[in-house]
Amino acid sequence: MKFSIVATATAILSTSSAHGGVGVYTVGTTAYQGWQPYNSASGQSSIQRQYATFNPLLIADLTTVNIRCNNAGDLGTGPIGAVSAGATLKAKWTQWTHRPAAVMIYMAKCPSSGCNSWDGAGKVWFKIAHAGLISGTQNAGKWAGDQITDTLEWVVTLPASLAAGDYLVRHELLALHQANNPQFYPECAQFTVTGSGTISPDATYLVSFPGAYSASDPGIAFNIDSDAAKTATTYPIPGPAVWNGSESTAPTQPDPPAAPTTLATSVVSAPTTAPPATCSVKKYDQCGGKTYTGCATFSLLGIVDDLPCLCNGIGRV
Ligand SMILES: *[C@@H]1O[C@H](CO)[C@@H](O)[C@H](O)[C@H]1NC(C)=O
Repeated sequence: MKFSIVATATAILSTSSAHGGVGVYTVGTTAYQGWQPYNSASGQSSIQRQYATFNPLLIADLTTVNIRCNNAGDLGTGPIGAVSAGATLKAKWTQWTHRPAAVMIYMAKCPSSGCNSWDGAGKVWFKIAHAGLISGTQNAGKWAGDQITDTLEWVVTLPASLAAGDYLVRHELLALHQANNPQFYPECAQFTVTGSGTISPDATYLVSFPGAYSASDPGIAFNIDSDAAKTATTYPIPGPAVWNGSESTAPTQPDPPAAPTTLATSVVSAPTTAPPATCSVKKYDQCGGKTYTGCATFSLLGIVDDLPCLCNGIGRV
């Protein structure tokens, strides 16, 4: 009896300590203290939107405003961080969270009136990064969230082309350790993005919170203990495609285009790999043959035969 009481108390403790939230954001050498949910709200001001607890949001919260920034639509409390487009932003969680988990990072551009007076409503959020299952199977593999469990940190690079302006940045952990009971841990913070970027994602990348996720999304209606999860080696991360900073397509036309449109930035010529001018194969090492794929420029006349050969480093011996 005594044992079971101790065991229960331990289980409760370990459950609550396996919840968390982003506590500090760092840009270069500047650290921005996040909201401190267990301190009095009165007198606190932070670049981060206030939230009340490290506890997760659950499927029932997907249709509520809470899924946006882990609060009831609270506004900003004053400060705003600064980060350049193309720079890195490091988030540090206050305490470790469950594994396995997916990591997702979204942004939304604040209106011209600024971030403080804006709650992030509307189809305005775009995803700048996400990571789920890294290797192995869903059930036993390595997940992106493992890194946060181990180091408490996650670094994201902002798209270099991102238009300058004020934004909300939403970090989210999606813990998947319980079958069919995903846990969402979102927090938002406000930043002025500086730089010469001018690009914003087009509407196909934008989602709203609530709205972005549905309880039936395959990554949300998810059972880590299922037979399928013991063999599957990919995980369908919920939410929209990641926007990588590519320029929008031309203004959308009322009629469906006859052929797939090509994004402007996809017209990037692949780097051409010129063969090395001279062969650097060591003397007497293999430099040809049917299965050989290395340097074979020993053949000064451009002839590669199917017999093993020896090189003297300059030409054929
Ligand atoms: C960025 O996304 C666009 C649209 O999906 C794609 O065409 C392009 O190849 C991507 N660029 C990079 C560098 O991944």
